[in-house]
Amino acid sequence: MEIQAITNSSIVHKQVFEGHSHAKQDREQDTITISYPATEVVGHGSFGVVFTTQVRETGDRVAIKKVLQDRRFKNRELEVMKQLQHPQVVDLKYYFYETDPQGEVYLNLILEFMPQSLYQRLRHFVSQRSNMPRIEIKLYMYQLAKCLNYLHKHAAVCHRDIKPQNLLVDPETYALKLCDFGSAKQLKPSEPNVSYICSRYYRAPELIFGATNYTVQIDIWSSGCVMAELILGQPMFPGESGIDQLVEIIKILGTPTKQEICSMNPNYMEHKFPQIRPIPLAKVFKREDQETIQLLSDVLRYNPTERFTALQCLCSPYFDELRSTTDPELASVVSNLRLMEFCDEYEFDTLTPEEAKVIKQRLQPS
Ligand SMILES: Nc1ncnc2c1ncn2[C@@H]1O[C@H](COP(=O)(O)OP(=O)(O)OP(=O)(O)O)[C@@H](O)[C@H]1O
Ligand SMILES: [Mg+2]
Repeated sequence: MEIQAITNSSIVHKQVFEGHSHAKQDREQDTITISYPATEVVGHGSFGVVFTTQVRETGDRVAIKKVLQDRRFKNRELEVMKQLQHPQVVDLKYYFYETDPQGEVYLNLILEFMPQSLYQRLRHFVSQRSNMPRIEIKLYMYQLAKCLNYLHKHAAVCHRDIKPQNLLVDPETYALKLCDFGSAKQLKPSEPNVSYICSRYYRAPELIFGATNYTVQIDIWSSGCVMAELILGQPMFPGESGIDQLVEIIKILGTPTKQEICSMNPNYMEHKFPQIRPIPLAKVFKREDQETIQLLSDVLRYNPTERFTALQCLCSPYFDELRSTTDPELASVVSNLRLMEFCDEYEFDTLTPEEAKVIKQRLQPS
C-alpha cells in the first residue's frame, strides 16, 4: 500500500539526514531536502523492500532500502553504515524515517546504486552454460578481501551474512561493493554473540557447532564459499538443513581433527563423528591453477585462527596477476578501480610501522 502510494506520485520530496554526518544524534543534525521521481522495486529482502530512483539535486542514481523500524531498538544497520566509508562498501548517502497510517515507523536508507548482485551475475553465466571468466572472479575476490580487511581491522565490524546476494557488482567496470549490513555487528571478545546468523551455504563450521565466541573469521569462511561458487557455478556446500551443512563440508574437507573441533567448539570434543577422508581441493577444482587451490585451502580451514585473514588473502600469490599484469585492458580495469591504492589511515592502521612497510611492499604492483 505504502509503496503503491509512492510509485503513483511523480516526484517525492523528502527531508533527509546525511549518511555520514558528525552529529551524534539525529536531533542535533540538520536535514536537507532531496527529491526523486517514482520508483521501481529492485529487490525484496527478508527485512524489507529495495527500490531505485535518481536524486534530482545531485543526479545520483540511488537504491532506497525501506525497513520496518522497531521503536524499542536502535537500528544496528544504520549505526554500522554511518561509520563505514570505503570504495568496496555501498555508501549510505542519506536516511529518513516515515510513519504509515497505522503508525508503523519505517527507516529508509538511501544508498549508492549498483546495477546487479553477484548472484545475478553468476546466474547469467550459468544460464549460458558458461563459466565466469577467471579474471573476473579474481577482480571480485580481491575487492572482497580489501573490503573485509577494512571492515574487520579498521571498524572491527563482522558482516555475518557474506553471500553472492549481498555483494553488488557492476559488470562493466568490475566494481564490487558489499551491502546489507542488517546482520553486521562489532564483535567484542568478552561478549558472546548469537550463532544463528549467516545464510546456510556460507556458514562457517564454528557457527554450525553453535559457537558464541566466534570472530570476524566467519566472514572469511563465507568469502571462500563465494569464491568456490563463482568457480563451480553452484554452491560448494549446498546443505539442506543446519546439520546437513556440516555433512556437506565434511564430505570434502574430511572429518575435523580433535584439535580442530576444539578450536570451533570444545563442547563437541567427545562427540563421535564418522571418519571421512578429505578430497584434495585440486580434485574438486580440476581446472584451476595451484595459486587458486592454495588460496581456497587457506581460507576454507576448520580452525578459525589458522584460516587466512583478509590481509593474508590480499597478499596471496593468487592476486599477483592483478599486481603484475602487462595486459593493457586488465591494467586499465585495475587502475580505474584503484585496486593498488591503499589508505594508511583505514587499511593499515592496526599494523605496526614495520609490518605496514612489509605489507605495502608485498601489495605493490610489480
Ligand atoms: N545499493 C543497491 N543497489 C542496487 N540493488 C540493491 C542495493 N541494495 C540492495 N539491493 C538489492 O536488494 C536486495 C536486498 O537488499 P538487502 O540484502 O540489503 O536486503 P535484506 O532485506 O537485508 O535482504 P536479505 O535479508 O534477504 O539478505 C539485494 O540482494 C540487491 O539485489
Ligand atoms: Mg540481503
